Formats: sequence, structure tokens, C-alpha cells
Amino acid sequence: MKSCMRLVCTALLAGSTLGGAQAAGMTVGFSQIGSESGWRAAETTVTRQEATKRGIDLKFSDAQQKQENQIKAVRSFIAQGVDAILIAPVVATGWDAVLSEAKEAEIPVVLLDRMVDSDKELYFTAVTSDTVYEGTVAGEWLVKTVGDKPCNVVELQGTTGSSPAIDRKKGFDEAIKAHSNFKIVRSQTGDFTRAKGKEVMESFLKAENGGKNICALYAHNDDMAVGAIQAIKEAGLKPGQDILVVSVDAVPDIFKALAAGEANATVELTPNMAGPAFDALEAFLKDKKEPPKWIQTESKLYTQQDDPMKVYELKKDLGY
Ligand code: AHR
Repeated sequence: MKSCMRLVCTALLAGSTLGGAQAAGMTVGFSQIGSESGWRAAETTVTRQEATKRGIDLKFSDAQQKQENQIKAVRSFIAQGVDAILIAPVVATGWDAVLSEAKEAEIPVVLLDRMVDSDKELYFTAVTSDTVYEGTVAGEWLVKTVGDKPCNVVELQGTTGSSPAIDRKKGFDEAIKAHSNFKIVRSQTGDFTRAKGKEVMESFLKAENGGKNICALYAHNDDMAVGAIQAIKEAGLKPGQDILVVSVDAVPDIFKALAAGEANATVELTPNMAGPAFDALEAFLKDKKEPPKWIQTESKLYTQQDDPMKVYELKKDLGY
């Protein structure tokens, strides 16, 4: 048994009465998934900014969408003896071994924006939204908007095996299940990217009578929705009118689409996951305060009625 948990040792060395700036000098490794979406880019930007603001030395590693790269990065952070590790886990399974290694090394791990299937004891805390709820909000918006008319839905799923893809599907399915006029006629992954969202939507349109059989698109993120909107336009249909579009993230480009009447609704996911993560690490550093296992961020629905260009202006320079 080591004499003190690594982060507590740092606190003792730094002096336990330090205030908000006490994380200064802390070294944190961040294993980021990659840059598949505008939202992901903003999360990276915000994490770097938060680290700089707090005097944290952030070691950044881009996994290029591969879990094996994330595992390598985490092992390298452990070998370097960082004070804490942030992981945005690309998929939910397969983390037990490396999380156990970090625990054995007494390095707290904070999960950012996605969950893992591992035992809660293997990580310090998780900062995420309620991703099931995001799907529910999207589904409830659609039910309310369409009413009793028959509605064939096509779904662009996020990365297969990732927690938001699993949960956003679940939440949406639950919201529509009591309404027999809704039917998901096509559902496929678009890997959270614009290019794949467009490509898969093109195949949906072809398979569904040029899109005439489709009433709505539900995309697990805005980037896929933006790609799909382009495909709908190229197929000669009006996105937002002929095919309703609802998605998740609230990136600046979806607000342009909302303003143009080409998208209908989005559920906001804050890119600031690092702020609450660093707060939790700092509180632990200061007085060993254990955070809850889940620090939940807020989710908010935006529609065309919410002055989309104003929101676009507010968001456009935030690193998306
Ligand atoms: O885990 C959060 C999801 O990952 C975002 O909704 C999506 O845009 C990103 O790639």
C-alpha cells in the first residue's frame, strides 16, 4: 500500500490551504477520441483553455478514433507519473484492465462526455450529460411536432459501441414507443461525422423512394445532421420541411441550418466537461473531498423559435 494517494501527495507538497489556484503545477494527461465532430473540437479547445487558466500542465493525446491508442496513451500517462488522467472513451467496453492499472498507480481517472461499462470503483468520477435523456428530448419533440400523422423516421447513429450512440437510441425509442404512428424505417451508424452522415443519408434517400417515404431524420449529433441536410437538398427535397431534422450537440452550424429553416431542433451538449472535472480534482486536492461518481451536465432543447442566429453568434468563436 502506498503511503499517500498520488493526488493527495501533490496536495501535501503544494500545501493543503491553497485556494482555487491550487491545481497549478498539477500534470494531467488527456486521452481525447479524435476530432470527428465540431463538438469534439470545442471540447478539446475548452479543455486546453481550462488547463491554461488553472496552471495545469495538460498532456494531450489524440487517439484517432481508436481505443487501442487510448489504452496506449493512458499507459504512457501512468508511466510518466501524471497526477490525474482524463479519458473521453471512444467505446464503452474494454476498459477494465487499464483502469485497474491507473487505480493501482493511485492516479485518479475522470471520464469525459462518455461512459464505460466498468465498475464505478475503477474511476474517480465521470462528467457527462444524461445521454438517454437527450434521445428522449429529441423523440418527445418529434412526437409533439408531428402529432397523429404517420411518420417514418430514419436514424443516423453515433459510433457503434459508444455510450452516447447506445443511450441516444434508447431514449428516442422510449419516447416514440407509445405512439404507433412512428416507425424507424432505417437506422445505421454515421460515426458522428459529417461525411458519413451525408453518405448514409444518401443511401436512406435512395432506399426510401428518393426520400418521399421519410418524414423525419433523427441524428445522434449535429455534424451527421448537417451532412444529411446536404444530401436531402441534393435529392431535391427541402430539409426541415419535407423531412424534419432533429439532432444533438447544438454546434454553431446547426444554428445556421435552424435559421435557414433546414433543421428543426437540437439538444445542447456543453463542450465544457473539463471545467467540472478540474473542479472535482481541485476539491480533492484541497480537502480530499470525494466527488459523486457522476457529475451531470445540462441538456437544453433549441428550435427555430429560439433566435438561432443570435445563438450562432454567441457560439461561433468558441472553438467548434
Ligand atoms: O460523446 C459526445 C459525442 O461525441 C457528441 O455528441 C458527438 O458530436 C461527439 O463526437
